[in-house]
Amino acid sequence: MAAKPFHLAWFTSFNPPSWRSPWGGVSGEEWMTGEYHLSMIKQMERAGFDFIMFEDSTMVSDAMGGTQELDLKHALHSPKLDPFPLLPMLARETEKIGLIATGSTSFYPPFILARVMATMDHLTGGRVGWNVVTSSEDVAAQNYGIDKLLPHDERYDMAEEHVGIVKKLWESWEPDAVVMDRETGHYADHTKVSPIHHEGTYFKVRGPLNMPAGPQGVLPICQAGGSPRGRDFAAKHANAIVVTQPIVSKMKEYREDIRARAEKFGRDPDDVKVLFHLSPVIGETEDEAWEQHHRLFGMEDPLAIEKVLAMTAAVTEIDFGKYDLDAPFPQDLTTNGHQSVLADLMERNKDKTLRESLSERAQLGPQVVGTPTSVADQMEALMEEVGGDGFLILAAPHTRRYIDAICSGVAPELQRRGLVRTEYPHATFKENLLAF
Ligand SMILES: Cc1cc2nc3c(=O)[nH]c(=O)nc-3n(C[C@H](O)[C@H](O)[C@H](O)COP(=O)(O)O)c2cc1C
Repeated sequence: MAAKPFHLAWFTSFNPPSWRSPWGGVSGEEWMTGEYHLSMIKQMERAGFDFIMFEDSTMVSDAMGGTQELDLKHALHSPKLDPFPLLPMLARETEKIGLIATGSTSFYPPFILARVMATMDHLTGGRVGWNVVTSSEDVAAQNYGIDKLLPHDERYDMAEEHVGIVKKLWESWEPDAVVMDRETGHYADHTKVSPIHHEGTYFKVRGPLNMPAGPQGVLPICQAGGSPRGRDFAAKHANAIVVTQPIVSKMKEYREDIRARAEKFGRDPDDVKVLFHLSPVIGETEDEAWEQHHRLFGMEDPLAIEKVLAMTAAVTEIDFGKYDLDAPFPQDLTTNGHQSVLADLMERNKDKTLRESLSERAQLGPQVVGTPTSVADQMEALMEEVGGDGFLILAAPHTRRYIDAICSGVAPELQRRGLVRTEYPHATFKENLLAF
């Protein structure tokens, strides 16, 4: 059976690209102007990507050794600029591709979130989406006057209430509330704009929003819940779910689980697109690609080891620097951070040493290596096995050269096979995303 068409998206941050790479060029100097992401998204649109997604956090982590040193040395979580103001700039120079930015339900008051997102939806002509996260690091929380985040599952209760309010605010102006009646002089009809009078456990919001919602109304929601509570939340609200899972059978299992949960909430599972992290390694020949793979993920470079350890420490809030690299992967760890990430890591690496676990951790998704044609074959085969719905590309390394290898090599090959879109037939991002 031939694979069904699937979606491509790109996972990135508003942070420094791989500036040390021999192909880094001037990206290390110019990324803060937005120019790097601008050139990237233009290529992505030509290559039929559904959206670019900006992950976000607001901390300088000291989870490794109680110091900020490694986080700053590797530019892991800082510097990181706020992606919200970048989206309208990216939209001005592209036509249709979707733009997703992250907003935390623990830190953003729902009214501000609803307003800034709806404003961006107007500015972009209906092309933005919201990546809903609950945040998982106390060092970030402490920037907002919160000493300690709520317990993991309760953060999702708060997120439920938050998202519910945001949706009500987006709906607080009826679609025909703006009348602009020149005879009577009415701009808006007050009977069609209603307060929401929300009083809940975590928030109190009067409403209405002081502006009509954008072209998409309720915006497309992106989510990445991995724990049982997080999966329920994602299945209930999300149109796109992004997943980091290198094991193919677990990719399939995750997608099927999400689809079953979506049905439980009365949703059409086809309205929830599950996209899997992937960093294909691409060469002009198979040998060249494998050579690159070894350089990137062979974990021979002490700097690479340090970086992966610090990255894992920051999301799990566990100081991986204090464990012996050649001892078995520790199995007694707990966190109030990304619980499913930690549980998955312990399970997957129970027969490995910490050092042996690093290569897979660095790759995030399943291993795909080869020429543009063979990478396209592997992606097609993966989708057939998993059942859908597409990939979330993470550049490795993040250089213009890598973006070109995907957008001028792999994606056109997938487009020629009819597996990736060549056009965006609808007016809004949400309609295009849900069209197949
Ligand atoms: C692809 C992907 C992107 C994510 N982006 C963010 C992000 O931008 N900010 C954030 O705080 N968490 C982010 N997360 C973490 C998730 O929101 C979530 O906490 C994590 O997947 C663990 O699931 P759980 O919360 O159900 O335990 C991301 C996770 C994945 C897999």
